[in-house]
Amino acid sequence: MKSIQSNLKKAKKYLDKNHCVAVPTETVYGLAGNAYSDLSVKKIFRLKKRPMNNPLIVHYSDFKKVKEDCYINDNFIKLYKKFCPGPITFILKLKKNSKISKFVTNKQQSLAVRFPRHPLFKKLLKSLPYPLAAPSANISTKLSSVQPSDVIEEFGSKIKYVLNGGKCRIGVESTIINLLSKPTLLRYGGLDVSKIEKILKEKILVKYNSKNKISPGQFRLHYSPGVPLRINAKKPKKNEAFVLTKKRKANSKNYYYLSKKNDLKQSAKNLYSLLRTIKKDGYKMIAVEKIPNEGIGKTINDRLKRASKY
Ligand code: TXA
Ligand code: MG
Repeated sequence: MKSIQSNLKKAKKYLDKNHCVAVPTETVYGLAGNAYSDLSVKKIFRLKKRPMNNPLIVHYSDFKKVKEDCYINDNFIKLYKKFCPGPITFILKLKKNSKISKFVTNKQQSLAVRFPRHPLFKKLLKSLPYPLAAPSANISTKLSSVQPSDVIEEFGSKIKYVLNGGKCRIGVESTIINLLSKPTLLRYGGLDVSKIEKILKEKILVKYNSKNKISPGQFRLHYSPGVPLRINAKKPKKNEAFVLTKKRKANSKNYYYLSKKNDLKQSAKNLYSLLRTIKKDGYKMIAVEKIPNEGIGKTINDRLKRASKY
């Protein structure tokens, strides 16, 4: 308990001085900085090697603080009540007089807003007088981090502090929904779209693949393990690692299990760390068996499809 308090204090100290700190969320680790500070936000872009035209998600401890920066609407309230804190990000209209750094949004008039559920991150946000801009804690286009050792692998000593919150419970990023007009899905994620549809009582349009990219982060090449990957594989070729979600009778040293029971939630949780392990084991090619396209399986397939564009 004592060490938790002192770790939170340390994180706050660095953030107050405009440094970046890695923070645990229930989805993936974030690379956080003061969203009101140009200096902090520019550091995030630099560390991640992220193009400045790709806006960041801002994390809040609660709804009331969001009202200072954004206009909220009925759909937001309905979804907030049901799912927050949790793995969903809302695109809202930014207020002209908001204190959000112009570098967060690339001068756009909208803001991505999220309420993370991880208890440590929640405590940290409550202790700060500003919200935290935090993209996933990885070098741009690479695999997201789901544990402190991944963050260190990505950034080494360039990052001042990693707040250790263990392994992320969900393991893939939040679902992004655009609420500027008719609700549309911008990214599959940790929250099942059908659950959102049930609350809004309407079908959610999927916009993430359209030519008109509202979320620049949804470029095709993304979530790359750094070696070629192919999906829907029936069996591995020579020298390929084979990623599986159900137990096979035979065993082989190139078999890597996301789950042995066809459990999609478990598979999502293990996805990024398993791909990192395969790369470390020296494989130069990865084959992945077909994964059911339902529930969080849609998110896994989305990430694998992008990873396969290497
Ligand atoms: O689970 C998550 O969402 C994690 C944790 C750390 O919260 N964060 C995360 O951030 O995945 P990032 O930066 O890796 O992905 C954010 C995505 C990008 O694709 C970006 O283009 C999109 O959100 N985005 C940010 N602001 C936007 C805006 N105003 N309009 C549309 N898309 C936006
Ligand atoms: Mg990311």
